[in-house]
Amino acid sequence: MKRIFYLAVISSIMWNCQSPGEGETSTQNADSNLFIMKFNDVHTFSQPEVARITHLEWDANVDFENKMIDAVAKYNIWTSDEASEIFFDTKNDMEILDVLADDAPAKFSIGDEVEHLGRPLRVEVLPSTKTISITYKTNPKAAALQWLSPQQTANKTAPFLFTQSQAILCRSWIPIQDGPGIRFTYNAKVRVPTGLMALMSAKNPQTKSKDGVYSFTMTQPVPAYLMALTVGDVDYKQLGAHTGIYAESSMMEKSANEFAEMEDMLIAAEKLYGKYQWEVYDMIILPPSFPFGGMENPRLTFATPTILAGDRSLTALVAHELAHSWSGNLVTNATWDDFWLNEGFTVYFERRIMESLYGADYAEMLAQLGYQDLQETVEGFLEKNQARDTHLKLDLKDRDPDDGMSDIAYEKGYFMLRLLEKAVGREQWDAFLKDYFQTNAFKVMTTEAFVDHLKTNLLGDMKYDELKLDAWIYGPGLPDNCPTPESNKFTIVEKQISDWQNGTALTELETNNWSSHEWLHFVRYLPVGLTYIQMKQLDETFGFTKSGNSEILAAWFQHTIANNYKPADQVMSDFLVNVGRRKFLTPTYKALLAAGKKDQAIAIYNIARPNYHSVATQTMDELLGVK
Ligand code: BES
Ligand code: ZN
Repeated sequence: MKRIFYLAVISSIMWNCQSPGEGETSTQNADSNLFIMKFNDVHTFSQPEVARITHLEWDANVDFENKMIDAVAKYNIWTSDEASEIFFDTKNDMEILDVLADDAPAKFSIGDEVEHLGRPLRVEVLPSTKTISITYKTNPKAAALQWLSPQQTANKTAPFLFTQSQAILCRSWIPIQDGPGIRFTYNAKVRVPTGLMALMSAKNPQTKSKDGVYSFTMTQPVPAYLMALTVGDVDYKQLGAHTGIYAESSMMEKSANEFAEMEDMLIAAEKLYGKYQWEVYDMIILPPSFPFGGMENPRLTFATPTILAGDRSLTALVAHELAHSWSGNLVTNATWDDFWLNEGFTVYFERRIMESLYGADYAEMLAQLGYQDLQETVEGFLEKNQARDTHLKLDLKDRDPDDGMSDIAYEKGYFMLRLLEKAVGREQWDAFLKDYFQTNAFKVMTTEAFVDHLKTNLLGDMKYDELKLDAWIYGPGLPDNCPTPESNKFTIVEKQISDWQNGTALTELETNNWSSHEWLHFVRYLPVGLTYIQMKQLDETFGFTKSGNSEILAAWFQHTIANNYKPADQVMSDFLVNVGRRKFLTPTYKALLAAGKKDQAIAIYNIARPNYHSVATQTMDELLGVK
């Protein structure tokens, strides 16, 4: 292998990006001038203004024994008139075996490692070069990939693999131009052990192939962070005309029942903001080590099994990932500094879907829980002197984008959009949003371009200033005009707690017909410093330690840890060992540290760590200081 080292210089040139319009795919040319936007992505080595990928043909073998994918990635590329090189992102010592330009050997070099980013792969091209083929092998440590033993799955009979590419991990399994502003179409051919099904963020099979070979097409251009692959012993079950579930056989019935309302969500979403553009919307229930709640891979959301509560109470997550089919997958944040454009809009859209299906009271409970998260996050950042991380528009230069992504993008973003809705009225706001998704479909969006769009199409300069939107977007904390969600239901919950504090027996509290959100608020709202007797009474009366609802369980652990309530210890440590969802791991390990139980935390982590995806171990290693 040729390996010429040179100093990697990250391009800081602003580039004009023309994204293809509807109907245009791989052959878009840069002069089509459909959409021009200036932005600078500091998290990719690629220089898309010089040369960029437009289409990928991916031919891959998935080797479970060696925890490796060996593959050829053949790209169609667009080149500027002066192009002499094209840059790709790589990571985790992916082995580059061969590079061709227009099917002839090409000169290439791999640059030095840059912290957080990986290494650039530089390939020499001519302005006339049309294709680049890269033959490569992934490293067993490839950060996006988690290779699971049969023991780590539900059926316990076959191995499992899944990828997690967002934010900048696609480069660990495909040498690629890994910036959200660069879109391409793809086809893939993937070979896996027979008996397993392979699925991608593409047109997917519904049955297992006899020979373990699968073909995929994605005819709409997507960015690299939406590249996804999973391989496992899963089946498919159709739920509605456009929706279905993939799950291991032992999880299928529960999953299909939990998500029976998926088609209704899709219909509600289309009614709000326009036609669903990706033909089908399926979801796969992954093993519990999946580090997120959900990931909006186009056509196939990846989801954690921790949302299987048995009572459909955690399906807002489905609404969320579905909403990304518009906010994120159609209109995409140009850089990770603009992440709130993906997540804030999605949380807003998610709550509107939930409101259409279950009513305003229900959606308001979700908003209130989000408001609690937001306040905690803002306070946390301000205390740590990290006010910069409370801005909607982030500055993630020289950082791992994963470190700067917090509830701010989700919830401060949500509340700003809710403020806009309040300011102009729902009718006008909905028309604006629908048009925003339509006009910008398959394009990228920067914060600055959104601000322009907002001023031009909805508010005007004066109203923009009146609403203090610069403070919202470019300033710290929560501006004083933040709408406050009000939920009668939660006021009643709070009253029950104060009644209990004032002597009413737990069995006398009015908790009939409470939804899991009310219970979650109840647990979160419990006072600090409960005695062992009080904890025991709560647990005996309401069965929190036995809760099948992961949100309630995780909130309960905050109290069991702080109050030294040992009867929950085994359940807590089992939870930490089996579940790899970072949203639950971080607060639980933090609570252990805060309670002076570092030894217990480390003892559990030593057992749990091999079960976690790299996204989770990276955060927990740092938190627990075991790097
Ligand atoms: N796209 C995110 C997950 C993500 C964000 C992965 C940043 C990597 C980097 C996904 O849509 C998401 O927000 N998931 C949430 C669920 C949601 C209901 C808030 C999660 O995983 O908890
Ligand atoms: Zn999201």
